[in-house]
Amino acid sequence: MRLSSPSLAVLALLLGATAAAPVMAGGDPVRGATLYKECAGCHAAQRTLMGPPHCGVVGRKAASIEGFAYSDALREADFVWDDAHLHDFLTFPIMNMPGTKMGFAGMFDENDRNDVIAFLKAERSPDSPMCQPGGDPAPPPGTNTGELGATPTPTHVPAKPAAPAP
Ligand code: HEC
Repeated sequence: MRLSSPSLAVLALLLGATAAAPVMAGGDPVRGATLYKECAGCHAAQRTLMGPPHCGVVGRKAASIEGFAYSDALREADFVWDDAHLHDFLTFPIMNMPGTKMGFAGMFDENDRNDVIAFLKAERSPDSPMCQPGGDPAPPPGTNTGELGATPTPTHVPAKPAAPAP
Protein backbone atom coordinates (compact mmCIF):
# COMPACT_ATOMS: atom_id res chain seq x y z
CA MET A 1 0.00 0.00 0.00
CA ARG A 2 1.46 3.29 -1.05
CA LEU A 3 -0.47 5.37 1.50
CA SER A 4 0.47 3.43 4.55
CA SER A 5 3.97 4.69 5.17
CA PRO A 6 3.06 8.40 5.42
CA SER A 7 0.15 7.47 7.69
CA LEU A 8 2.49 5.43 9.86
CA ALA A 9 4.87 8.37 10.06
CA VAL A 10 2.02 10.63 11.22
CA LEU A 11 0.96 8.02 13.75
CA ALA A 12 4.51 7.77 15.06
CA LEU A 13 4.65 11.55 15.46
CA LEU A 14 1.37 11.57 17.33
CA LEU A 15 2.51 8.79 19.64
CA GLY A 16 5.80 10.59 20.21
CA ALA A 17 3.99 13.79 21.20
CA THR A 18 1.72 11.93 23.57
CA ALA A 19 4.64 10.18 25.21
CA ALA A 20 6.48 13.48 25.76
CA ALA A 21 3.60 15.27 27.49
CA PRO A 22 3.88 13.76 31.00
CA VAL A 23 7.58 14.64 31.13
CA MET A 24 6.73 18.32 30.65
CA ALA A 25 4.03 18.22 33.30
CA GLY A 26 6.27 16.94 36.09
CA GLY A 27 8.23 19.62 37.92
CA ASP A 28 10.92 19.44 40.58
CA PRO A 29 9.44 20.37 43.98
CA VAL A 30 12.88 20.81 45.55
CA ARG A 31 13.92 23.40 43.01
CA GLY A 32 10.39 24.78 43.34
CA ALA A 33 10.97 25.40 47.06
CA THR A 34 13.79 27.80 46.20
CA LEU A 35 11.73 29.56 43.55
CA TYR A 36 8.81 29.79 45.95
CA LYS A 37 10.81 32.35 47.95
CA GLU A 38 9.47 34.81 45.38
CA CYS A 39 5.97 34.01 46.63
CA ALA A 40 6.65 33.59 50.35
CA GLY A 41 6.76 37.31 51.04
CA CYS A 42 3.02 37.38 50.40
CA HIS A 43 1.84 33.78 50.81
CA ALA A 44 2.09 31.41 53.77
CA ALA A 45 0.79 27.87 54.14
CA GLN A 46 -2.08 28.50 56.55
CA ARG A 47 -1.80 32.18 57.39
CA THR A 48 -3.21 35.04 55.46
CA LEU A 49 -0.46 37.49 54.59
CA MET A 50 -0.82 39.94 51.75
CA GLY A 51 -2.10 37.01 49.71
CA PRO A 52 -4.36 34.09 50.64
CA PRO A 53 -2.95 30.93 52.26
CA HIS A 54 -1.67 28.26 49.89
CA CYS A 55 -2.57 25.03 51.70
CA GLY A 56 -4.65 23.02 49.29
CA VAL A 57 -4.54 25.67 46.59
CA VAL A 58 -4.03 23.17 43.76
CA GLY A 59 -7.48 21.74 43.25
CA ARG A 60 -9.17 24.58 45.13
CA LYS A 61 -11.75 26.81 43.54
CA ALA A 62 -10.31 30.24 42.73
CA ALA A 63 -11.03 32.91 45.35
CA SER A 64 -12.51 30.48 47.85
CA ILE A 65 -10.75 31.45 51.12
CA GLU A 66 -13.56 32.89 53.18
CA GLY A 67 -12.91 36.37 54.51
CA PHE A 68 -10.09 37.14 52.08
CA ALA A 69 -10.70 40.37 50.18
CA TYR A 70 -10.11 39.05 46.69
CA SER A 71 -10.27 41.27 43.64
CA ASP A 72 -13.48 41.15 41.62
CA ALA A 73 -11.41 39.66 38.80
CA LEU A 74 -10.43 36.62 40.84
CA ARG A 75 -13.83 36.36 42.47
CA GLU A 76 -15.48 36.17 39.08
CA ALA A 77 -12.99 33.58 37.84
CA ASP A 78 -15.04 30.44 37.70
CA PHE A 79 -12.44 27.69 37.74
CA VAL A 80 -10.42 25.39 39.93
CA TRP A 81 -6.66 25.94 40.20
CA ASP A 82 -5.08 23.27 38.05
CA ASP A 83 -1.83 23.17 36.08
CA ALA A 84 -3.21 25.06 33.11
CA HIS A 85 -4.77 27.88 35.14
CA LEU A 86 -1.72 28.21 37.39
CA HIS A 87 0.60 28.41 34.37
CA ASP A 88 -1.56 31.04 32.77
CA PHE A 89 -1.95 33.19 35.90
CA LEU A 90 1.63 32.94 37.16
CA THR A 91 3.20 33.72 33.80
CA PHE A 92 1.93 37.29 33.85
CA PRO A 93 -0.73 37.90 36.52
CA ILE A 94 -1.86 41.41 35.64
CA MET A 95 -2.05 40.65 31.92
CA ASN A 96 -3.69 37.25 32.14
CA MET A 97 -6.09 38.19 34.95
CA PRO A 98 -6.77 41.90 34.41
CA GLY A 99 -7.78 43.49 37.70
CA THR A 100 -5.99 41.04 39.97
CA LYS A 101 -4.51 42.42 43.18
CA MET A 102 -1.56 40.06 43.00
CA GLY A 103 1.36 42.46 42.77
CA PHE A 104 3.78 39.96 41.29
CA ALA A 105 5.44 40.65 37.96
CA GLY A 106 5.31 37.10 36.67
CA MET A 107 7.32 33.95 36.23
CA PHE A 108 8.16 33.75 32.57
CA ASP A 109 10.11 30.50 32.47
CA GLU A 110 7.95 27.43 31.95
CA ASN A 111 10.34 25.17 33.87
CA ASP A 112 10.31 27.55 36.82
CA ARG A 113 6.51 27.52 36.83
CA ASN A 114 6.47 23.73 36.58
CA ASP A 115 8.74 23.50 39.61
CA VAL A 116 6.76 25.98 41.70
CA ILE A 117 3.53 24.17 40.85
CA ALA A 118 5.18 20.85 41.81
CA PHE A 119 6.18 22.48 45.12
CA LEU A 120 2.59 23.63 45.72
CA LYS A 121 1.28 20.14 44.99
CA ALA A 122 3.79 18.48 47.32
CA GLU A 123 4.45 20.93 50.15
CA ARG A 124 1.09 22.69 50.22
CA SER A 125 -1.12 19.67 49.79
CA PRO A 126 -3.67 19.39 52.62
CA ASP A 127 -1.83 16.38 54.10
CA SER A 128 1.67 17.95 53.98
CA PRO A 129 3.31 18.76 57.36
CA MET A 130 3.01 22.54 56.81
CA CYS A 131 -0.74 22.19 56.44
CA GLN A 132 -1.35 20.32 59.72
CA PRO A 133 -2.59 22.19 62.82
CA GLY A 134 0.35 24.20 64.18
CA GLY A 135 2.51 23.20 61.21
CA ASP A 136 2.83 26.69 59.77
CA PRO A 137 5.59 28.57 61.60
CA ALA A 138 5.38 32.29 62.32
CA PRO A 139 6.33 34.32 59.27
CA PRO A 140 9.97 35.44 59.15
CA PRO A 141 10.75 39.02 60.13
CA GLY A 142 10.26 41.42 57.27
CA THR A 143 7.34 39.47 55.83
CA ASN A 144 4.57 41.67 54.61
CA THR A 145 1.73 40.73 56.92
CA GLY A 146 -0.42 43.63 55.71
CA GLU A 147 -4.08 43.75 56.58
CA LEU A 148 -6.32 40.95 55.50
CA GLY A 149 -6.55 41.24 51.77
CA ALA A 150 -5.07 44.72 51.74
CA THR A 151 -3.95 46.12 48.42
CA PRO A 152 -0.47 44.72 47.90
CA THR A 153 2.42 47.11 47.89
CA PRO A 154 4.14 46.85 44.53
CA THR A 155 7.76 45.92 45.09
CA HIS A 156 9.06 48.38 42.52
CA VAL A 157 7.76 51.59 44.13
CA PRO A 158 10.73 53.91 44.58
CA ALA A 159 11.49 55.18 48.06
CA LYS A 160 9.87 58.51 48.93
CA PRO A 161 12.16 61.41 48.10
CA ALA A 162 13.68 63.06 51.16
CA ALA A 163 11.83 66.11 52.46
CA PRO A 164 13.23 69.31 50.91
CA ALA A 165 15.68 71.14 53.13
CA PRO A 166 14.11 74.07 54.94
C1 HEC B 1 3.24 41.01 46.25
C2 HEC B 1 2.51 39.94 46.90
C3 HEC B 1 2.37 38.61 46.16
C4 HEC B 1 3.35 37.81 45.61
C5 HEC B 1 4.85 38.09 45.55
C6 HEC B 1 2.68 36.63 45.11
N1 HEC B 1 1.34 36.72 45.34
FE1 HEC B 1 -0.06 35.31 44.84
N2 HEC B 1 -1.53 36.54 45.51
C7 HEC B 1 -1.35 37.78 46.09
C8 HEC B 1 -2.65 38.42 46.30
C9 HEC B 1 -2.89 39.80 46.91
C10 HEC B 1 -3.61 37.52 45.80
C11 HEC B 1 -5.11 37.75 45.65
C12 HEC B 1 -5.28 38.26 44.22
C13 HEC B 1 -6.65 38.81 43.85
O1 HEC B 1 -7.56 38.84 44.70
O2 HEC B 1 -6.79 39.22 42.68
C14 HEC B 1 -2.88 36.34 45.33
C15 HEC B 1 -3.49 35.19 44.80
C16 HEC B 1 -2.82 34.06 44.41
C17 HEC B 1 -3.45 32.85 43.96
C18 HEC B 1 -4.96 32.58 43.91
C19 HEC B 1 -5.36 32.00 45.26
C20 HEC B 1 -6.83 31.76 45.47
O3 HEC B 1 -7.23 31.55 46.64
O4 HEC B 1 -7.61 31.79 44.50
C21 HEC B 1 -2.46 31.97 43.66
C22 HEC B 1 -2.63 30.55 43.13
C23 HEC B 1 -1.20 32.63 43.91
N3 HEC B 1 -1.47 33.90 44.36
C24 HEC B 1 0.03 32.05 43.72
C25 HEC B 1 1.25 32.76 43.84
C26 HEC B 1 2.53 32.18 43.55
C27 HEC B 1 2.77 30.74 43.14
C28 HEC B 1 3.46 33.18 43.73
C29 HEC B 1 4.95 33.13 43.47
C30 HEC B 1 5.35 32.69 42.15
C31 HEC B 1 2.74 34.37 44.18
N4 HEC B 1 1.40 34.06 44.23
C32 HEC B 1 3.33 35.58 44.48
C33 HEC B 1 -0.14 38.34 46.42
C34 HEC B 1 1.11 37.89 45.99
